[in-house]
Amino acid sequence: MRHLIDTTDISVAEVDQILETALDIIADRKKYSEACKGKKLATLFYEPSTRTRLSFTSAMMELGGNVLGFSDAASSSVSKGETVADTVRVIGCFADIIAMRHSKEGAPMVASHYSDVPIINAGDGSHAHPTQTLTDLLTIRREKGRLNNLTIGFCGDLKFGRTVHSLIKALSRYTGINVILIAPEELRLPSYIRREVCDKNHVPTREVETMEEVMGELDILYMTRVQKERFLDEEEFERLKDSFILNPERLRNAKNDMIILHPLPRVNEITRAVDNDPRAAYFRQVENGKFVRMALIYTLLKWAEERSETPTPRLDRSLVNNDIRCSNRQCISNSEDVDHLFRETKNGDLRCVYCEARVK
Ligand code: CP
Repeated sequence: MRHLIDTTDISVAEVDQILETALDIIADRKKYSEACKGKKLATLFYEPSTRTRLSFTSAMMELGGNVLGFSDAASSSVSKGETVADTVRVIGCFADIIAMRHSKEGAPMVASHYSDVPIINAGDGSHAHPTQTLTDLLTIRREKGRLNNLTIGFCGDLKFGRTVHSLIKALSRYTGINVILIAPEELRLPSYIRREVCDKNHVPTREVETMEEVMGELDILYMTRVQKERFLDEEEFERLKDSFILNPERLRNAKNDMIILHPLPRVNEITRAVDNDPRAAYFRQVENGKFVRMALIYTLLKWAEERSETPTPRLDRSLVNNDIRCSNRQCISNSEDVDHLFRETKNGDLRCVYCEARVK
């Protein structure tokens, strides 16, 4: 059974195939209007969402399928203590495919270990958001005409911003990618992504403190919100929340064909005055999210029907080590009764398989 838990669960060729399908859907939506007739998508959202949940819903409706699920875990038996593992085994009796968002990192991976139907990670804590990445890739492809030879500046909350983590992983598999990281010290990209993703794939990275100093170099400016809900210290959030605000003045030196992306929702990090700039692509990005989710649902259901034997990685029993615990309090392995899985990195560190935190 193939799932989409992490961006790298699908090969570059498969990503390109999903993007091609999305482009084909855009060109001829009618052709796909009954592509998933008789199929059901369950949306299990344990955390708030506007775009992801409703674009999944709209996507399945446009494919001729049906949708069930919950948008508030408190209204489900989760409130009585039902685990992720049991929940997906139950939902698998009612639905053909599941999209899950959860505040605990690694929850969709736990779901994939127990599910008889494909699981799609619709965002897990600060960890990953692979369907936003597919959305971003489709947008870049449509706006820039390519996915290689790009300089992309990631700006804002690079520590908690799961969309940034997933997109960097995805882009690092293409050639000629340059990454510029624009963040305050407290919100820098987790070092494991710089070392184990960028350095490993020979993707140059540079950390800077202002967007102005790099604006003229960028093909893409990827803005992010400071993720209030992830902070343990409210005072720290208050101090950092206005770190970067994009306004027309700051865009003065930007290339004419640079694009501005943002996974949304935004708070104040892009001023309203930027919205009318033709380089502001963030609302076009939202619409691409529906098309690419249509392509993803269609593809995963097709793979499930073909009984593709290519396994989702990281299900190897040799990774189980129940004598140690993950150090990340937000990891699902610290709140549900699951096997504790770790893999060893090249430099001998142990890393939790669910959330990728290093074992201290
Ligand atoms: N981009 C994104 O994940 O938005 P939602 O939180 O509204 O789903």
